[in-house]
Amino acid sequence: MSQNASTLPQTVSLQEKFALFTDHWSPKIVGELNGQQVKLAKISGEFVWHAHEHEDELFMVTRGQLKMRFRDGEQLINVGEFIIVPRGVEHLPIAETEEVWMLLFEPASTVNTGTAGGERTVSELERL
Ligand code: NI
Repeated sequence: MSQNASTLPQTVSLQEKFALFTDHWSPKIVGELNGQQVKLAKISGEFVWHAHEHEDELFMVTRGQLKMRFRDGEQLINVGEFIIVPRGVEHLPIAETEEVWMLLFEPASTVNTGTAGGERTVSELERL
């Protein structure tokens, strides 16, 4: 039984996808499954304090060191590590000393600024 190559599930190269953009704090959709999205983002400096009412968020770091500040402390996430921020928990992502590249895994309904809104909100995400 032969199968057309176009019908086969496709391998996704993080390296190739990250090479397609340079802007910061603007997540790109690179995959979708079960109502969840896989996104890639490059960040530099501080974001804004926010929380998500209904969504848990996973952040996996592929370059640099992510600092995730919470109201009662902070965590460092290094390359090859991930952190899950539960819904309702206020968080502030920071790339303090260098640009950070990360993979996000979260429901498609997730807005980057959560319930905080504001000018850093990206409502239309690009698909790569
Ligand atoms: Ni968030």
